[in-house]
Amino acid sequence: MINTSMSGHSLFRRPLTIAVIFLLLITGVQCRRAPTSPTGLVTEKAMVVSAREEASEIGISILREGGNAFDAMVATELALAVAYPYAGNLGGGGFMVYRKSNGDVGALDYREKAPLSATADMYLDSLGNVIPGKSTKGATAVGVPGTIAGVFEVHEKMGSLPLEKILEPVIALAEKGVVVTDNQENRLERYREQIIEISGEETFFYTKCRVGDTLKYPSLANTLRRIMKNGRDEFYKGETAKRLAAFIQERGGYITEEDLAKYEAVWRQPIIFNYKDLRIISMSPPSSGGVTINQIFKMIEPYDIGDLGHNSGEAIQLLTEAFRRAYADRNYYLGDPDFVEIPLDFLLKEDYLRQRMDDFTFKKATRSEAVSHGTVEILESNETTHYSIVDEMGNAVSVTTTLNGAYGSKLYCDELGFFLNNEMDDFSSKPGVPNMFGLIGAEANSIEAEKRMLSSMTPTIVEKDGALWLVVGTPGGSTIITAVAQTIINTYEFNLSMQQAVEAPRFHHQWLPDYIIFEPDGFPESTKEFLRTKGYEINEERTPVIGKVDAIRILPDGRKEGGADPRGDDTAVGY
Ligand code: GLY
Repeated sequence: MINTSMSGHSLFRRPLTIAVIFLLLITGVQCRRAPTSPTGLVTEKAMVVSAREEASEIGISILREGGNAFDAMVATELALAVAYPYAGNLGGGGFMVYRKSNGDVGALDYREKAPLSATADMYLDSLGNVIPGKSTKGATAVGVPGTIAGVFEVHEKMGSLPLEKILEPVIALAEKGVVVTDNQENRLERYREQIIEISGEETFFYTKCRVGDTLKYPSLANTLRRIMKNGRDEFYKGETAKRLAAFIQERGGYITEEDLAKYEAVWRQPIIFNYKDLRIISMSPPSSGGVTINQIFKMIEPYDIGDLGHNSGEAIQLLTEAFRRAYADRNYYLGDPDFVEIPLDFLLKEDYLRQRMDDFTFKKATRSEAVSHGTVEILESNETTHYSIVDEMGNAVSVTTTLNGAYGSKLYCDELGFFLNNEMDDFSSKPGVPNMFGLIGAEANSIEAEKRMLSSMTPTIVEKDGALWLVVGTPGGSTIITAVAQTIINTYEFNLSMQQAVEAPRFHHQWLPDYIIFEPDGFPESTKEFLRTKGYEINEERTPVIGKVDAIRILPDGRKEGGADPRGDDTAVGY
């Protein structure tokens, strides 16, 4: 069974659809404690929700053949590299949070890392100024990729099918090709000039792609075939490693064969916390996702947000004040835990978080300058991707993976068939100077050889009454964390179905700049006016799409409901 979401942002262009969603939301608010009927795809046994139907289908085909959620993770991750090169990748990295059917939980960090030659000032000129573009475009921006190490680690520790069986449909997809969607044509058109500027006129993406064209990736198929034959070392020590290091260095980049040979994915203890009767399991540093979402939920817990009304002025106020305070801590304290001391005990202590809200009042907005720590300015991006998987046994996998920017550094290795990340820009190149997403980092996230750059990715799993309940995550740069928080709150506090919770309009605040951004439709002027009277600033110029959430809810009878985000081509597939 398939549920393909509406393409593009058509959701926001169709008044009838908006009216229906409002009606559903109002109904959801009114019967908050009544059982929620599903509105997304419902299946009996298993489900995969990802950014492309082809990837979800391949993940499900692996589950149908008797594979588990971890086998499906390997297949879906690599299928996204074929079907969704905008963010799916071999040349990037990511994070996985899992919950096994026996309740064991864990997390895998296959984030990129800085090369051995990296230094704190590598993106600065002789005057100490940031060199524009050096950490964002081309070979100099590339961090050591982690994705192949990640999928092999997952397969070795938790997979059940032979790797050949898992890679076979992915290689077949690369050879058969992927049909260009409306969204994909728009994205490729938007970035075509930049890709050509960085990768040259000989690049595969030089040719304009139109809706309905089929893009075949024979070089990627060959790379995957070599990896299937020779294993993980093919990418990190073999022929592929040699070609990749030479390719990057010929273009002025830093990654060497030694950098590739030294790369390891790392198992981490996830961030785990309770919110009412939920147990929330999310990604730990070097992602800021789990820590920040933990802070947000603990700050709002004493207030019954469910009684305030979904997306009501008061609910937005409460969440905004929690977002403001959590983001104020975020960049000051967080970085790679293998390099910096992160005071997690302090940051996640209930007393501390309750105390952070001491000066919150529904009467008026707190000013961000009154909330201490760092000087962080963060902008959103959708240039990452998330997928959620639940298998027949009840194993759950939540994965967010990225090249950082759209098509990463825009450097496409035609010989190997994939884009390379520009993840080095997620470090703070210079304290006080924003990166491509407006992030101003602190010392904790400064560049060091072999260090991992701070992330916002928030792959999350939620238990209710001790059982698996939600698998959720999204792209969206710094808005990832607030979008995941809103999706959980929509489902738990406002009793929306999984699909409604994903579709519901979202907003975002991140301490600095001190304003709220709203999605284009779905927030009435009266709500905004209410917030203005309380002293909140609203950014009227920027009303971006916030996140593309892909999630699964386990219904009380054990069936699965998908939430596939209509803001993209995202699709739930299951059986
Ligand atoms: N590159 C985006 C992130 O890791 O949050």
